[in-house]
Amino acid sequence: MSTEPWGGPADEDLRASVAQLLAAAQDGVVGIVEAGHPVLRRPAQPYAGQLGDLLAPLLTVMRATMRAAPGVGLAAPQIGLSLAIAVLEDPGLPAGMEESADERERTALAPRVLVNPSYERVGDDDRSFYEGCLSVPGYQGVVRRPRSVRLRGQDERGHEFDEILTGWPARIVQHETDHLAGVLYVDSVETRSLTTNATYARAWAHEATPRSAARVLGFALED
Ligand code: NI
Repeated sequence: MSTEPWGGPADEDLRASVAQLLAAAQDGVVGIVEAGHPVLRRPAQPYAGQLGDLLAPLLTVMRATMRAAPGVGLAAPQIGLSLAIAVLEDPGLPAGMEESADERERTALAPRVLVNPSYERVGDDDRSFYEGCLSVPGYQGVVRRPRSVRLRGQDERGHEFDEILTGWPARIVQHETDHLAGVLYVDSVETRSLTTNATYARAWAHEATPRSAARVLGFALED
């Protein structure tokens, strides 16, 4: 089994469990595990080529599962696989709104793969916004995060990257990289901000920032 370009040896047990996962896919989509499942709380195993030629079909299934959810990111532990791999894709705001003064700085994020990612804060700015997680269905909450981060890791071909991200793309990569460390957004959520999706849609989704929510629900923002 070729493991190019990773160089690490194949792991036949892991390959067998991935083959089983892929075989269980329905219309190319697999189930998402939810909070309480131990795999979401373990640091994911670094990827070094253990899957060989099963990496490509795994990524295809992860992307399809993310899009079907729908979500803007999916980490391998969220489909029950403790490997440091995540897929991301954010089409951004609807046509005509791309350049609006969106306080979230939500710019489109082209489909990409993060392998063994890590990040560190860049600068002192924090931003607080509502976010959600496919593994914590039904809820959203405000999380304060660095506005910009330096992200390092590899892509699906094993090529190293080292870049600075700002705004919503920075939030997405922080959320997904946190998954690979066994961390969920609820670990740092502003608990008084927690809202069901239905109430979020009714009360807060139209607000550019969580300032009103902070005032009404009783939590502090960084400002
Ligand atoms: Ni998540």
